Amino acid sequence: MKPITINSLREEVGATVTLKGWVQQKRASKGLFFLVLRDGTGLVQCVVNQGTVDESSWEDTTVATQETSLIVEGEVLADERQIGGVEIQVSKIEVIQIVEDYPITPKPHGTEFLMDRRHLWLRSRRPWAVMRVRNRIIMSIHNFFQERGFLQMDAPLLTKSAVEGTSTLFEIDYFGSSAYLTQSGQLHGEVLAMAFNKIYTFGPVFRAEKSKTRRHLTEFWMIEPEMAFYDLDMNMSLAEDFLVRIASDAMRDCKEELELLGRNLDALNRVQVPFPRLTYCDAVELLRSDKTQGLVEARQHELLNEQSDLERERTENRANYARLKEWKKRRIDAREIEINTRLDQIEEALRNLPKWWKSASAFEWGSDFGGSDETLLTWHFERPVIVHRYPEAVKAFYMKRDPEDDRLALGMDVLAPEGFGEIIGGGQRADDLAFLEAQVQRHDLPEEAFEWYFDLRRYGTVPHSGFGLGLERTVAWVCGLEHIRETIPFPRTLGRLVP
Ligand code: 4AD
Ligand code: MG
Repeated sequence: MKPITINSLREEVGATVTLKGWVQQKRASKGLFFLVLRDGTGLVQCVVNQGTVDESSWEDTTVATQETSLIVEGEVLADERQIGGVEIQVSKIEVIQIVEDYPITPKPHGTEFLMDRRHLWLRSRRPWAVMRVRNRIIMSIHNFFQERGFLQMDAPLLTKSAVEGTSTLFEIDYFGSSAYLTQSGQLHGEVLAMAFNKIYTFGPVFRAEKSKTRRHLTEFWMIEPEMAFYDLDMNMSLAEDFLVRIASDAMRDCKEELELLGRNLDALNRVQVPFPRLTYCDAVELLRSDKTQGLVEARQHELLNEQSDLERERTENRANYARLKEWKKRRIDAREIEINTRLDQIEEALRNLPKWWKSASAFEWGSDFGGSDETLLTWHFERPVIVHRYPEAVKAFYMKRDPEDDRLALGMDVLAPEGFGEIIGGGQRADDLAFLEAQVQRHDLPEEAFEWYFDLRRYGTVPHSGFGLGLERTVAWVCGLEHIRETIPFPRTLGRLVP
């Protein structure tokens, strides 16, 4: 018999198949067991009937617990009411290993508890959906660039110098001298663009982020296209097309996953070109304006309404509780945890909003936008928004200056809507040797380590541009996740190196 996975069962209706997997759930009825089998590709209900299976199959089913590994043989029946539109009428069951005390039970757990058990949690529904969206996004990224003639090339991870400022470098001992884990493949990407015209790197990067936020990891994946003969406008257009492709592929191919995550698809549907583009100067004006204050007040109003609705629901649930059947009580318990989690979020948001507006209204030209400023800015737009031409002081040493205004760098950030904030950072690169040498000095960077980089400006320098997309922030945005830690199989943060 050919090996079959659960995701292909629809094509097997009427056939007898063998499935290998794990028990996700088990329910008993008189002379019957209903097993929900999980094999990583999907879930399927298996019906075990005492009257039609042999004694050893029945015994194995009786002792099977959550996450017990087993082999199931049976007939595939079409049944649109079931998950996946099919059901297995079991003829034989064989247990591989019985599991005792699986730590993650169907009752809700806190995120920290689950993160400590990430190696097991990955088997659950929610991570299943997120990781599949992540995989789809990775495929879109490769397809997008490959179809446009970009070469995928790799930058080294061990480097001799900083790319994005020296404060977030991980230093390591490299045979007695010091080296760093790379923060970005960009500088090597520029080398590759001069050799191959249009390239993209796709690799892990490292930043010693010493704060815990919802948006920062210490190890994350970055996709960095770099293009010879591209100016800032071409760069921004490429970024737009790129994000539209990512969002539309995910909506087309990850319907089930996004639905499971409760993602609002209207928001993703609005990801269409062109994106609004505003200069840093205009963004500052907008941020400080009455319009922002209006949005903050409207949000406060919405949150207060949601808060009272939830509190009312919780009170009603509790009032009826004693009279309910056991299974109904369990459902109410689970709902109460959901309600409490959301109420905590609302309370936090209501605490933050006045502070956010206070700092936004006092924002001074020349500073960098903080996370809350980015969030407020995105509320003005229904699509991703591009902010360009930042004060040079808040951007990296390698950025080209705006020929129209020397205080500005030709950098751009793409902010994802709904408060997700920066997912892309990039710009046009300085192409003049003397300027770049001066910049390296001004930023206190070791000149020797940049000689090879200067060579690009000595031997046939050309205008060129590129950007970096943070994969995990993109997954968080597409999936609509509150926190970046759920977007990577094994998150690395200030407080977490295990599992
Ligand atoms: O804006 P950043 O720092 O830009 C660069 O590194 C450029 N060298 C890229 C380029 O032009 N080739 O980082 C790019 C993106 C950010 O927009 C964000 O999405 C993500 O990387 N990012 C992080 N993601 C998770 N955790 C962190 N600590 C991140 N820091 C940046
Ligand atoms: Mg940035």
